[in-house]
Amino acid sequence: MAMIEVKDLVKEFVVVRKKTGLSGAVKSLFLPDKAIVRGVDGLSFDIEQGDIVGYIGPNGAGKSTTIKMLTGILHPTEGEIRVCGFSPQKDRKAVVRQLGVVFGQRTQLYWDLRLGETFELLKRIYRIEDKPFKDTMDILNEVLRIQDFIDTPVRQLSLGQRMRGDLAASMIHDPTLLFLDEPTIGLDADAKHAIRQFILTMNRERKMTVVLTTHDLDDVEQLCSRLLVVNRGKLVEDGPLEAIVNKLAPHRLLVIELAEQVILPEHESARIIGKEGLKVWYQFDKSVITAADLIADLSGKLPIRDLSVQEPDIEDAIREVYRTTS
Ligand SMILES: Nc1ncnc2c1ncn2[C@@H]1O[C@H](COP(=O)(O)OP(=O)(O)OP(=O)(O)O)[C@@H](O)[C@H]1O
Ligand SMILES: [Mg+2]
Repeated sequence: MAMIEVKDLVKEFVVVRKKTGLSGAVKSLFLPDKAIVRGVDGLSFDIEQGDIVGYIGPNGAGKSTTIKMLTGILHPTEGEIRVCGFSPQKDRKAVVRQLGVVFGQRTQLYWDLRLGETFELLKRIYRIEDKPFKDTMDILNEVLRIQDFIDTPVRQLSLGQRMRGDLAASMIHDPTLLFLDEPTIGLDADAKHAIRQFILTMNRERKMTVVLTTHDLDDVEQLCSRLLVVNRGKLVEDGPLEAIVNKLAPHRLLVIELAEQVILPEHESARIIGKEGLKVWYQFDKSVITAADLIADLSGKLPIRDLSVQEPDIEDAIREVYRTTS
């Protein structure tokens, strides 16, 4: 059974538009001046248990709206959702028990409590026994190092500490599924590293399924086995990062530094796209010729001092997805 099943999901918002250039009397004739915005526009996908899925797309693509529907915060306008076999809207309690949710932009901790007190409170809310609570706290401590600030009131935590606290709080009831909406936003390299380690550890040790929304492509590269790319509320790509990059940016570059100036030979499977002093750039398609074969061919014809193969920029490839679908 899939952990998450989404079919033909739609979310419409009613927005009030301001009319300009009309007098109040004329305006009232046209009231109510409302427009419908489709935040999510016919999404279908399944997510299997144990996957770490990156849910990515440009601003306004519909990512947060999707997560809010999957977690039962918003009701879909149309479509079907099953999370752990339940409807997040109809069986909210059953679903919430299985879920951890963290919105990077907003804390779910209690401002006036110390972090440790917050965890104690959650332990009571979820009726968790001492032993599993301690086991969970031990793992969390190891990865997130929360012991260092467990007695600090939440309002005094730094952003990175607060984020670690939020992640820890989302794990107290040992969920099987974790939704993270921009968990690394605004954090320094150290905190990002801790959070990525945390995600990988929970996935490995507890088989936790993770759905991660992020604009940070290092998150994507280091964590996600699969990407769902959305734009304007629609799914535009689905697959492993490497496959998406290969599809959108099939070209590689072979950069050769010559030992001396020579007449450059053409190659049937590679194109010279640049030359500067003793440096030459050959562009080739990985599916047509391997880097090893190209190097072998050229090394017989050219005095090569040094060479390197450049992989495409992931960021460029992802930007390409947005560009071609907008
Ligand atoms: N409560 C709301 N009322 C009206 N429109 C909304 C509401 N929430 C979201 N939208 C609209 O739905 C679309 C999707 O928004 P959403 O917040 O899901 O985007 P996102 O992919 O999370 O973007 P970001 O990367 O900026 O967080 C946007 O056009 C947004 O303006
Ligand atoms: Mg968002």
